[in-house]
Amino acid sequence: MIAFEDVTKRYPGEVVAVDGLSFVAPTGLLTVLVGPSGCGKTTSLRMINRLVQPTSGTIRLGNEPTSDMDEAILRRRIGYVIQHAGLFPHRTVLDNIATTARLNGISKAQARIIAFDLLERVGLSPDFAGRYPWQLSGGQQQRVGVARALASSPKFMLMDEPFSAVDPIVRTQLQDEFLRLQKEMGKTIIMVTHDIDEALKLGDQVAVLRVGGKLAQIATPQELLTRPADEFVANFVGRDRGYRYLGFVGTAGKLAANKEPTAKLGDTPETARAASRDRWLLVTNERGEPIGWTEPSGLRAPITMGDINLSGTFAALSGSLRQLLDAALSSPSRRGVIVGDDGRFVGCVTLPDLLVLMDQTADASAPSREVRHAL
Ligand SMILES: Nc1ncnc2c1ncn2[C@@H]1O[C@H](COP(=O)(O)OP(=O)(O)OP(=O)(O)O)[C@@H](O)[C@H]1O
Ligand SMILES: [Mg+2]
Repeated sequence: MIAFEDVTKRYPGEVVAVDGLSFVAPTGLLTVLVGPSGCGKTTSLRMINRLVQPTSGTIRLGNEPTSDMDEAILRRRIGYVIQHAGLFPHRTVLDNIATTARLNGISKAQARIIAFDLLERVGLSPDFAGRYPWQLSGGQQQRVGVARALASSPKFMLMDEPFSAVDPIVRTQLQDEFLRLQKEMGKTIIMVTHDIDEALKLGDQVAVLRVGGKLAQIATPQELLTRPADEFVANFVGRDRGYRYLGFVGTAGKLAANKEPTAKLGDTPETARAASRDRWLLVTNERGEPIGWTEPSGLRAPITMGDINLSGTFAALSGSLRQLLDAALSSPSRRGVIVGDDGRFVGCVTLPDLLVLMDQTADASAPSREVRHAL
């Protein structure tokens, strides 16, 4: 764990960046620090690896106060990922990663093996090994930054806005991949972001800071959404927090998906009209993966892509109520399409069925037990 005990940082000129901060980041979990610009997030992070010296208070790594530890050893135990990746510009991708591995006294050859392995784990092909940072996209640089931080196999990771310098689609990809990686690694992580959606998506627990460096609330994402401690937190979490909360409600086992008739690309208008029960008919490909909806009454020739309305999103069978609701609302038929892990069509759910499901989740706001135990 990483523990803050009444930590304060006052910069020269009486700027109080962090004010009496106390919280615990439990072992193996991801704790997110979130808050408006200037609320002391980066300062808090940099105090952990002693790039910034606290004015007062204690930070512990495990049970050991960081102030008692040798700085070089401390930094070796902590992976650090910063915004824009901060790679060494004159070193190749492989050398950037291997350099951190070498910190633990590992041989050059072994460090290269570790670096190649990490490259793959963060989703980059070995072809990138010989490139320089300026030859990479922002998202690729961020991946190398994460690989570099992992190369010393640290137990602890500090990440300062690691996914902020990329567009929303790449950002979502990086977040998803990182969640998968963290599931395998189980590192003790403190991540900083000012994006509340990112905090709620990634954090096992989320600490909300207010300007002046005071802790407003630390809780699981579910708890922040359903029981914000005060108006500041409620506003920060956002007006659509009810909808966001549905993202944490799983549907597995509670859902009665209705089997729908479907058509395939290439089916004749007659086949489609015979299959359809109402205005809209779902079209799948050869493998049974849904594509979108068509109106059989308007078909004049076998179904092509041009006949299909692509607006509906698909929800995973193991996904959240938020995904399902979105699938239903975005579909022209108002029926949400559900797909299995293999991407194939499973069934549909109607808006009225969803409302019933949502109604049943009213008491599902209990905070996650795991974090409770860890604390
Ligand atoms: N070296 C410094 N000297 C003086 N004041 C500083 C220094 N570094 C940061 N500050 C001030 O401390 C406060 C907290 O800064 P910090 O960088 O920790 O905020 P932050 O929450 O990371 O903000 P952002 O979201 O914009 O990155 C700010 O008011 C900032 O101006
Ligand atoms: Mg910052």
